[in-house]
Amino acid sequence: MLYNTPMKNIVILISGRGSNMEAIVAAAKSQQWPARIAAVISNRADAEGLVFALQHDIPVAVVASKQYASREQFDAALQVQIDHFSPDLIVLAGFMRILTSAFVQHYSGRMINIHPSLLPNFTGLHTHRQALQAGVSEHGATVHLVTPELDHGPVLGQIRVPVLPLDTEETLAERVLVQEHLLYPQIIRQIVHGELSLSQ
Ligand code: GRF
Repeated sequence: MLYNTPMKNIVILISGRGSNMEAIVAAAKSQQWPARIAAVISNRADAEGLVFALQHDIPVAVVASKQYASREQFDAALQVQIDHFSPDLIVLAGFMRILTSAFVQHYSGRMINIHPSLLPNFTGLHTHRQALQAGVSEHGATVHLVTPELDHGPVLGQIRVPVLPLDTEETLAERVLVQEHLLYPQIIRQIVHGELSLSQ
């Protein structure tokens, strides 16, 4: 019933490598989601992921955070860029910014993030280091709705990986990332098909 399924506009925000963005783009295409990646937007002009997006004919935009005097001004400019693409869903994929409450409220119920830990454990940065230092036997990643408090929104899905005796920050990060690339597209697929609701 393709004619019955409204296409959803997805805007992906990145700051760097963009491997989760790549996984989402690939899944959207191969699984023929009723959605288009309307844009990839970065806060850094040198984000590697922009190259992949351009190569795949996805509109890209850069809102360079360093050009704004305040967090509020940057978020306002970013909001204008995002809204230009009429987004149904905003996907934070390695977007390394703390967001203002006003920005988060504007996208309430339609902005999601992936965080490389089993939330509520290990919020913030260096999550793999935090996990090793805490001596946990299991680590992972979480997709959650974005709410004003950093890394605290309602959990939409998690993956778990074992922590191995010889793990370093790098080996653990690698193992988690492989799973992130499965988890994030899986959650977004459910959202665009209306199988997972973001209303709280
Ligand atoms: C991922 O580990 C993600 O969970 C975290 O930042 C990393 C981004 O990687 N938020 P990439 O840019 O998607 O490759």
